[in-house]
Order: sequence, then C-alpha cells, then structure tokens
Amino acid sequence: MPELPTGAQAAYQLIHDELETDGRPSMNLASFVHTWMEPEADKLIMESINKNLADNDEYPATMRIHARCVSIIGNLWKSKGAVGTATIGSSEAVMLGGLAMKKRWQAKRKAEGKDTSNPNIIMGANAQVALEKFARYFDVECRLIPVSKESHHCLDIKKAAEAVDENTIGVYVILGSTYTGHFEDVEGMSNLLDKIQEEKGWDVPIHVDAASGGFVAPFAFPDLKWSFELPRVRSINSSGHKFGLAYAGVGWILWRGEEFLPKELVFTLTYLGAEEQTYTLNFSRPSCFMIAQYYNFIRLGRSGYTSVIQNSLENARILSFALEDTGYFDLISDTHRSKGVFGYENRTSSTEGIKEFNPALPVVAFKLTDKFMKENPHVKQASITALLRSRNWIIPNYALPPNEDNIEILRVVVRESFSQDLIDILITDIIWATETLAASDSGFDVEILTKRTKDPIAAAHSLEHSAGTPYGRQC
Ligand SMILES: Cc1ncc(COP(=O)(O)O)c(C=O)c1O
Repeated sequence: MPELPTGAQAAYQLIHDELETDGRPSMNLASFVHTWMEPEADKLIMESINKNLADNDEYPATMRIHARCVSIIGNLWKSKGAVGTATIGSSEAVMLGGLAMKKRWQAKRKAEGKDTSNPNIIMGANAQVALEKFARYFDVECRLIPVSKESHHCLDIKKAAEAVDENTIGVYVILGSTYTGHFEDVEGMSNLLDKIQEEKGWDVPIHVDAASGGFVAPFAFPDLKWSFELPRVRSINSSGHKFGLAYAGVGWILWRGEEFLPKELVFTLTYLGAEEQTYTLNFSRPSCFMIAQYYNFIRLGRSGYTSVIQNSLENARILSFALEDTGYFDLISDTHRSKGVFGYENRTSSTEGIKEFNPALPVVAFKLTDKFMKENPHVKQASITALLRSRNWIIPNYALPPNEDNIEILRVVVRESFSQDLIDILITDIIWATETLAASDSGFDVEILTKRTKDPIAAAHSLEHSAGTPYGRQC
C-alpha cells in the first residue's frame, strides 16, 4: 500500500490499464457466467449497488422483489409453496441444500435411536467442485460414482442406486454437467429411489444441482420432468448469473416446502431494530445482482427467456455441425443430436429430419479424432487452446472426470452474447489453429506457454500443498 494517497483519476487509470490485460469477457467461452446485460439493467445495478441484501428492514422494496423472484422461480420449477433465498451463486446454494439433507437425515436417525456418525452423499464423478466441497467441508462421505461413455460422461443412475444405504443423506443430480452439458436423469433416479424406499424403507431425497439447467430446461424443454413435480426432488439450486442472464453474484436455492428446510438452519436475528430470518452462509451481500435478475424476469418474460435460450441452443448446434464437418473433431456433447441418440459415432451433418433434440445445455465439447491424432502425433490438443488465445478466444482444454480422464476435451459454452457471426469467425480460427499445428514439424510446445513464471507477490502468498483432489477439476 502506498504511504500517500493517489489522485482519483490516476488511481482509476492505473487500475483500468492493468485490467485491460485481462481476457475479454465476451470471448471467454470457458465460462458459464453471463457477461452482458442491457444498459437499463446496468443502470439499476448502479442505483442499488450500495444496498446490502441483509438489511431486510431498511430496504423493504428490495425484500419484496426478492420474495417475488423466489415465487417466480418456484413457479418455473413447478412448485406451489416453495421457500428459498438468493445466494451468492450455486456453490453457496449447493452447500445449503446439502446441509438441509444432512440435518433432516440426522433428525430422523436420532428419533429412531440410530447412529448418525457416518452420513454419505452420492453424486457422479463429473460433479462440479462445489458439490465435493460440501461433502468435505461438512464431514459427509462423498460417494463419487464413476462416469463412462455409456452414462454419457455423467451420473450412472443404476450405480448410484447401488451405492445407497441407510446412511445416505441424499443424491445430488446435476441438470447440466459442467463438462459436457448433458442432463442427468432426475426422473430415472427418482424412480430408482422410490423402489429402494419400497424395498428397504429408506427415504432418500434428491437435490437437483441445476446451476445452469434451472434457467434452460423450463424454457427449452418444458415437458422434461426434473423439478418439483417429482415428489422426491426436495431442493433445487441454480445460478442466476449463468442462464438466468444476470452478472456474477446471484444464485438461488429453493426447497419444495418449509418442512424440508430444517429449523436448525434458520436463524432469527434482531438486526438494526427489526426481526429477520436468515439461512444463508453469507450475511452481507450485494442486492444489485438479485435486482438485475428481477429486471430480466420483467423485461424478458417467459417468451423472451425462451427465445434467448432457443437461440443459444441453435448456435451450439450450428457450431457442433461445423466442427464435425471439418473432419478433425469428434463431438462429445450431444446437444445437436436427435433425442435418444448419443456418441460421436453417430454423425449427422445437419438438423434436417431432427424433430426433437437431446435436452442439454448449449455446450459444445469436442476432441481431435483418433485419425487426426494418428496422422499428426506431434500435435497436442492443448496447443489449440494456446493458439486460439493468440486470437483472443478463451477455450479450455480439460480432461474428463476420473475414470475417463485419458480423454481431453475442448469446451465452448454458448451464451447469449455468442452470435452466429462470432461462430463463423471462431470456426475459421479453430481450423486455422488445427491446420497450423498439423503443418508444423514439431507441433507446438504448449508447455512453454502454460508454465508461467510466477508473480513474486502471488508466489509468496500461494499455497504449497493441497490436501485436495489429485486431479484438475473442470469449473
Ligand atoms: C453444475 C454446477 N454446479 C455448481 C456450480 C457452481 O456454481 P457457482 O459458480 O454459481 O457457484 C457450477 C459452476 O459452473 C456448475 O456448473
């Protein structure tokens, strides 16, 4: 910190110029998080940027808007009487959903005079890090179910059912796998858990992690059964800042009814003179992004959201077909395939004749074909990421989850701001990168680019060790 103050203009310019060296949000195709809103939304955000969402009594209009958002989202997720709250994002919401399941399981076991020391939770190995964090942070055994090509790289519901026992607090089912955009089978999982309840008497709840799908499925796949119409779905989270189309800083958690939100999680506080209830992990938090969410509800309505998401899905399909047509790539995502058709062996060159598509996120996950790799053994897929970065595109190259981590994928999240015009430019640049690498004698040593020298200050404060996961996670 400097000893003396800096002039406002100079301080602004200094920081502004440094931030200019960041990637461009609109070309950051790695992220699910929304990066563009209308100027009117930006204006509302600036007008409410100084309001704390924790100050219930002071900002009654803000609280009314919050309650309306919960009601609107409950309606989208086919519930009557859901209760819930805004969070900072899906991670906080996932923790709260997990905690509610743990508390309810503990209460039931205690009432029956049974042991409560070994709770477990079930999820696919493709789970986003937030889900595993819940297990580790709150002392719940994490039963990660291996994924495979047959399970479309996400939760294998039969294996998940086999992993259930009397200590299972619940199953996390993901609507929209972070890796490939596939929807996990919530209804199928629910049916299997119904059977388990009939046979063994264990009532195992489902929490749906609909971080992305919560604002995709209701508009693009309204007949899909995944939400509160299934009695076993007790809670759902979503990120308002993903396909809810607000900026980073707003998520949602809803329970199907008050009885599924254990009383121990709800604190009644006397704060600044009034009584208020709180059941979030964070207390103070911005209200402006929740207000931005409400702006979208009013501004777009159902038909507006439907058209935005249909457009993103169509763009994802156009990009998928174009990538397949190059002959260089296999598509691991199945967003562009006819409903029920999975796997890159099933190439289709256009949407012609397809009446219904697989319900999935507008995500395009792809890899170099075996043929290309054989003919060009010097090319590393990760080098495509590095070359594209030189043209400002940010497209990550990740390994699939453990069990399939010998397969690397490139992934593009198609958001509202990614137009057909940009797809045209991107596909040209991907072909350029791939052919440049193939034509080079030695490929391109991506390691040189990825091994960054550390900033000495960052290095001094970074962690040497992590007790954590031995593999890199997709996020
Ligand atoms: C399936 C899934 N769950 C949870 C999260 C965490 O969401 P957030 O970034 O809103 O905390 C993500 C983020 O990408 C996700 O894809």
